[in-house]
Amino acid sequence: MCEKSFTGENNVKHVPYDLYLKEVTEQLTHKGIFLTTCGEKDNTMIIGWGGITYFWNKPIFLVPVRYSRYTWQNINSTNVFTVSIPLNKDMKEAINYCGTKSGRDVDKFKECGLTPVPGKFVQAPIIGECSLHYECRVVFKQSMEPVLLDEKIKNSSYRNNDYHTMFYGEIVACYLTE
Ligand SMILES: Cc1cc2nc3c(=O)[nH]c(=O)nc-3n(C[C@H](O)[C@H](O)[C@H](O)COP(=O)(O)O)c2cc1C
Repeated sequence: MCEKSFTGENNVKHVPYDLYLKEVTEQLTHKGIFLTTCGEKDNTMIIGWGGITYFWNKPIFLVPVRYSRYTWQNINSTNVFTVSIPLNKDMKEAINYCGTKSGRDVDKFKECGLTPVPGKFVQAPIIGECSLHYECRVVFKQSMEPVLLDEKIKNSSYRNNDYHTMFYGEIVACYLTE
């Protein structure tokens, strides 16, 4: 599953993981960013929650994924993912499509004209049309415990019991491709 050869590091510029913190947070919370996984099928979806944090002396990308997502199966079985962010580009249409259709039913790369470029450090691909990328290896995952959750949030976000799993991905690389 998910076996690919690595292609080397041509045309990438490594940057500190927190250099674009403001831009990442802005795109995440206002538009959404691409969370890409591998498995039986490569797939990408959109996240609007989570973000960059720091645990166990490591930079971490925390991504919350509901059980119902096709992405959940991929990430839970392979323990790798990438996050791709368009810095100077409007990718509204692709974000809307990838944030509403499931990889169970469609090939989102094909439908949106997105290029899955092989990851350089993990088996999950990055999105070729984005310019900033994080490659991550899951070091901890956490299911939500409903009894510990604020009632208002439970009623507003989890009426159908489709809870998030929090995947903590150690950022093994952060780089620009344009
Ligand atoms: C702006 C935006 C933000 C989203 N944020 C999340 C999120 O943080 N976690 C999540 O599980 N789904 C989120 N979604 C929904 C998924 O992207 C969507 O259900 C997607 O179709 C799942 O694809 P999959 O079944 O191929 O994994 C978001 C969607 C949009 C449009």
